[in-house]
Amino acid sequence: MDLNQSLGEADELFEAQAHIYRHIFNYATSMSLGCALELGIPNIIHDHERPITIQELVSKLNLPITKTLHLQRLMRLLIHSKFFSITKFHDQENEDEKEGYVLTVASKLLLKNNNTSENSQNQPNLLPFANLILDPVLMTPWQFLGKWFNGNESTVFETAHGTPMWEFANKNPGFNELFNDAMASDSRMMSLVVKDCKDIFGSVDSLVDVGGGTGLNAKILLEAFPHMTCTVFDLPHVVVNKIETKNLKYVGGDMFCSIPSTDAVFFKNVLHNWSDENVVKILKQCKEAIQRKEDDDDGDGKKGKLVIIDMVVDENQDRHEITETKLVFDILMMVLVTGRERTKNEWEKLFLEAGFSRYKITPIFGLRSLMEVFP
Ligand SMILES: C[S@@+](CC[C@H](N)C(=O)[O-])C[C@H]1O[C@@H](n2cnc3c(N)ncnc32)[C@H](O)[C@@H]1O
Repeated sequence: MDLNQSLGEADELFEAQAHIYRHIFNYATSMSLGCALELGIPNIIHDHERPITIQELVSKLNLPITKTLHLQRLMRLLIHSKFFSITKFHDQENEDEKEGYVLTVASKLLLKNNNTSENSQNQPNLLPFANLILDPVLMTPWQFLGKWFNGNESTVFETAHGTPMWEFANKNPGFNELFNDAMASDSRMMSLVVKDCKDIFGSVDSLVDVGGGTGLNAKILLEAFPHMTCTVFDLPHVVVNKIETKNLKYVGGDMFCSIPSTDAVFFKNVLHNWSDENVVKILKQCKEAIQRKEDDDDGDGKKGKLVIIDMVVDENQDRHEITETKLVFDILMMVLVTGRERTKNEWEKLFLEAGFSRYKITPIFGLRSLMEVFP
């Protein structure tokens, strides 16, 4: 073997080594981010109102000076992964140039919201979602994935915690709150574009948000389309004691048994929680809910539809890292519940099997698409 050939092979193997290390250490980036959130670093940078030097950051965090270099290293990784950035600045004229940390678009979404005003509560913010995903209750099951493959439990969560996730949430109010806050924080992102969906919601008079959680989706929809009446339909322990208004109602129940009559059934991040067999059962309940409303109204069958916000896996169209995130969600659905992420063809099969005739996909919610499905 000549030297060039053996160097070529070595290069390939070193490249593979770097690839393996990058992936087996992915968790180090998420744990470092979790540490920055735990310490409250995004808020300290935000409140500083100009770039913050490492010494100022150490002082604001009340850390011993001996931790300066360690914090700098943590920040270096998080700058590399685009959670912070570093910029040169002058504090005052004639002063030496300094370097200071600033927030990026991503860390602005991870600020702790200390302001309780209604307006600031509605700003997009993903800190509760990050807190849920990095919580030990959701991190632990990943250690049991291999064991689950060889066992009989329906989810990895159950192998790890001895009970399915929805039951666990029912029995643990702290986790239930963490979960519902996380879902609500994810929903706030919807408010960025929902007002542009006149074609979709403009002609809908009544809407039932199935698996609607605390009702934030419904509130966002009502803000953009106040002519509608919305019913948030979820498990009884989720909707108990929620405050209703003239056009916002809460109903506790089980979507596998019956869904309240309505023009439109809305699902966000719900159907990906369930197996194909269960999705078809839920969709059939939706069809009945729409049909009952049609019969009551003596309608012409034009209003009824489903509006689904969920992921559509498209390896040909999406950028590599978007597909990777969707595939990670797919495994997450296997770990936590019995669901999955689906391609367009996989969704279509379920819609047709449940008796719906046509559908339209609009990819407007970032990782998620909006799907309208018609009887
Ligand atoms: C992943 S969360 C999504 C919450 C909300 N749609 C959102 O976008 O933030 C799924 C929701 O489905 C609800 N759920 C689970 N099983 C249900 C059932 N059998 N009937 C009604 N809702 C159910 C859960 O309580 C939870 O609120």
